[in-house]
Amino acid sequence: MKKLEQLYEGKAKKVFKTDDPNAYIVEYKDDATAFNGLKKGTIAEKGIINNKVSNHLMKMLEGHGVPTHVIEQISDRETVVKKVSIVPIEVIVRNIAAGSLSKRLGIPEGTKLAKTVLEYSYKDDALGDPMINDYHVFAMELATPQELKTIADYAFKINEILAAYLKDLNIELIDFKLEFGKTPDGKIILADEISPDTCRFWDSTTGEKLDKDRFRRDMGGVEGAYHEILKRLLGE
Ligand code: TMP
Repeated sequence: MKKLEQLYEGKAKKVFKTDDPNAYIVEYKDDATAFNGLKKGTIAEKGIINNKVSNHLMKMLEGHGVPTHVIEQISDRETVVKKVSIVPIEVIVRNIAAGSLSKRLGIPEGTKLAKTVLEYSYKDDALGDPMINDYHVFAMELATPQELKTIADYAFKINEILAAYLKDLNIELIDFKLEFGKTPDGKIILADEISPDTCRFWDSTTGEKLDKDRFRRDMGGVEGAYHEILKRLLGE
């Protein structure tokens, strides 16, 4: 497969066209941002770790019947993915209060939520990814009711599978963000990435943060946390 011109550069990844009209190549960068790009930095080898971790988790999810965009990892930082158009909704699933939910609702971080929370944000950097609900999704025609139901059903299913998988590795899945894509034939599949950039992972025993919050909050030990996740998931 030939890597052709760059289509898009995001905060953490680049996307390239290929000579296969149904496939793109994503390339993971070490760049890290937080607070809608206000805070900028790099995390050494993050691109390599997120590429491997995301592909590992998506393959695991595929095994449980969740369709994803992953086709094949071709290098440390590059993966061939199915061509999709991204549904411009960030889907957030929360098991334990943390981050913006704790701030917004005054629930202390670490509080177990009595029911899993599903949130949507409108994926628009200029607007700062504002939170929306299903009425906004339909009013703005971001997805049809049937598509949004598919997305929500997958999000809860992914939460069940992922939380159980991580529990065995002594990792608590606090919350995470998903993005979905639409294939040219209209199928909804999981896209983007699942990594320490897009999830909160806490050590089950010590509560130690093993994710991008260490960067967001200047806690130090950022690289170590990403390497620890790689080690627990892939044994590397
Ligand atoms: P939040 O508590 O800041 O709203 O974040 C919820 C989850 O979503 C957390 O696991 C981090 C992830 N996330 C992203 O992947 N991208 C983002 O832009 C934001 C704000 C959060």
